[in-house]
Amino acid sequence: MQVKNTVFIGKVLLHFESLASTNDYAQELLSKSKPVEGTVILADYQSAGRGQIGSTWEVTPGKNLTFSLILSPRFLPIQRQFALSQAIALAIRDFLATLCAKNVYVKWPNDIYIEDRKVAGILIQNTLSGQKIQNSIIGIGLNVNQDQFPSLLSNASSLAIETGKTFDLSSIFPRLLQFIEQRYQQLRSGQSSQIHQNYLDHLFLYQTEALFQEPGKAPFCGSIVDANPQGQLGIDRQGQISYYNLKEIKWVDKK
Ligand code: BTN
Repeated sequence: MQVKNTVFIGKVLLHFESLASTNDYAQELLSKSKPVEGTVILADYQSAGRGQIGSTWEVTPGKNLTFSLILSPRFLPIQRQFALSQAIALAIRDFLATLCAKNVYVKWPNDIYIEDRKVAGILIQNTLSGQKIQNSIIGIGLNVNQDQFPSLLSNASSLAIETGKTFDLSSIFPRLLQFIEQRYQQLRSGQSSQIHQNYLDHLFLYQTEALFQEPGKAPFCGSIVDANPQGQLGIDRQGQISYYNLKEIKWVDKK
């Protein structure tokens, strides 16, 4: 597979039939060498794919896109690392919106939903140097042609399930990378407030009454009003806004 439509992302593409985890491979690469910015590691199958907060990412071999991208966002102070997460999530959202007529959202902090089902997840691992981000490994799992998911309880879905079509992975992949590159360039050129506004424009349940729950507490009705630069989610509950980190709050249901 060749990526011809980008300036630097995916120009070096390391494509494997199988790896434990593309994020782990990227980390190893960074520890042993100096991979060029934009290097992409793509695997048709991951035997130990990693999800957020120690979870696993399991998908059917050959049906989806599972890859990691190495970036060097040294222009971004560590206090603003959430802006990178926003830019990447938006890029995937915008790309999927070109393929699917349904509503495509970013679910805070950086899942991608079609309607209320998850089709993509992002795992970002940053290495810091002083107050700057030295390197960033952007791990992306996008469910494309998988038509079944193991757990009945999970809300996982795929592009194929949502559109009724199958997609050629090697033709959609370069386009996805192009969307990512455009948002990254936007971030690099200092337009993070535009990115933030677009993030809110497409945020799942933004300014919509819904049921949320703090661990061990009863669900409450509130509405998302903000995501602050630290990446915390702002929820308005009867006129009082509280900010939450991941795992401190979960969305339970629509109202
Ligand atoms: C999530 O839990 O939502 C994040 C999932 C991230 C999965 C991707 S697949 C490619 C890359 N390699 C990994 O081991 N994980 C990420």
